[in-house]
Amino acid sequence: MDKNFDLIVIGSGPGGYVCAIRSAQLGLKTACVEERKTLGGTCLNVGCIPSKSLLNASEIYHKTQKEFSNLGIESSNVRLNLSKMMQNKNNSILNLTKGIEFLFKKNKITHLKGKGLISAHDTVKVIDNVGKKNNYKAKNIVIATGSIPTSLPGIKVDEKNIVSSTGALSFDEVPKKLAVIGGGYIGLELASVWKRLGSDVMVIEFLDYLVSGMDKDISIEFQKILSKQGIDIKLDSKVTNVSLVKNKAIVDFTGNKSLKRQRIEFDKVLVAVGRKSNIGEEIFKLGIKLDSKKKIQVNNKFETSIKNIFAIGDVINKGPMLAHKAEDEGIAVAEIIAGQAGHVNYDVMPAVIYTSPEVAMVGKTEEQLKKENIKYKVGKFPFLANSRAKVNNETEGFVKIIADEKSDKVLGAHMIGPHAGTMVAEMALAMEFGASSEDIARTCHAHPTHTEAIKEAALAVDKRSIHF
Ligand code: NAI
Repeated sequence: MDKNFDLIVIGSGPGGYVCAIRSAQLGLKTACVEERKTLGGTCLNVGCIPSKSLLNASEIYHKTQKEFSNLGIESSNVRLNLSKMMQNKNNSILNLTKGIEFLFKKNKITHLKGKGLISAHDTVKVIDNVGKKNNYKAKNIVIATGSIPTSLPGIKVDEKNIVSSTGALSFDEVPKKLAVIGGGYIGLELASVWKRLGSDVMVIEFLDYLVSGMDKDISIEFQKILSKQGIDIKLDSKVTNVSLVKNKAIVDFTGNKSLKRQRIEFDKVLVAVGRKSNIGEEIFKLGIKLDSKKKIQVNNKFETSIKNIFAIGDVINKGPMLAHKAEDEGIAVAEIIAGQAGHVNYDVMPAVIYTSPEVAMVGKTEEQLKKENIKYKVGKFPFLANSRAKVNNETEGFVKIIADEKSDKVLGAHMIGPHAGTMVAEMALAMEFGASSEDIARTCHAHPTHTEAIKEAALAVDKRSIHF
């Protein structure tokens, strides 16, 4: 095999594999190194995809039990077959990872199996699973090694009783009592899964609101809805210790303001307090510059402090840790390497929490705008007044659009409600085209659809919503 490449991408997550495909499309001789058995990185193997499979299956299970009879569908003897649900999840992962293998073959990308290490500015050493080493030359290298879960000081994740998201995606039985440390994306999605499957779930969050950085209005509504679903949410509480006693996990936490200390016993504890960049030793040795949070510093061309070594995705000091951000960066960096003008717009980057109802956002929150001293106006519309949501008995939540006070240009959109994760795409597209709330209000939306709530929220910016 020829061991010389125009580009070697290290890591095959959504950033890495998309970068490799775009690079091959542009005619660059491309290889992608992956140490996991299957392609797709955290997202496909132990992140977005398996969690969405379990979110979907657990929601159907829950609805079958609790909501079908309201629709005149009588079901009895509904039982959970957890191992089959897990098997279905694993099949989805397998299908999708095989899909990337197929795309690699189709685009003539060399899949290098093993751990990739940058051994010189133009060399990637690949160590395979039996320890065999091979060196490959690359004119350009893209580091796309993603991120790994963090824990708290003194708390050791054993992936049995004290688990990260990886362990919580594969419990072999439903824990009776589950503690979730961290009320962020991972914590709340997995809290929802296990609550629906029968666990008593307590979420313990350090801040006094859920999901740091989220628009406060949405966060408050989200908390109300999750509490109504039976998830016990302890805000403003710091977990200080988790200890294992006879297969049970004892969680100690203290109220930040009240200083009240609590000690509660759980069967399982999920630690979901964030992720950190996955940076190998050789990055330090090579002298690639990192920022204070140990993320790789890149310039606007995604180039690190070493020429022709680039980085994208969760390892870099730009944008949120989201799969689609990494994908966009993967495309941009491949285009830049090929001599084109790759670009990523960090101001218009949707984020979705796939709970029920879904939560989605794009652009600035009210809190950010206040901080930046930008004058704005707000339009809100509740799903309670949306006919489609009403007939489907899914009336919780609302759409909120924030527009510039003078120019009316949309600055942000935040929503909680049915299909919010899909609907937010309309707002992202509108914002990419610099739309005003008036533009959205005057765009014809099909009736009856949930998207009419967006049109109505846009009308509400100018206090002229029709149905509310
Ligand atoms: P996160 O940063 O979203 O939330 C972690 C939470 O833990 C924070 O709210 C923090 O205040 C809290 N916390 C920290 N220390 C604590 C303590 N001692 N006691 C109690 N609470 C404490 O992190 P998460 O949920 O682990 O997600 C990691 C990354 O993965 C995020 O950047 C997210 O963007 C990404 N992700 C995205 C998903 C999506 O797009 N749907 C799904 C899952 C993950």
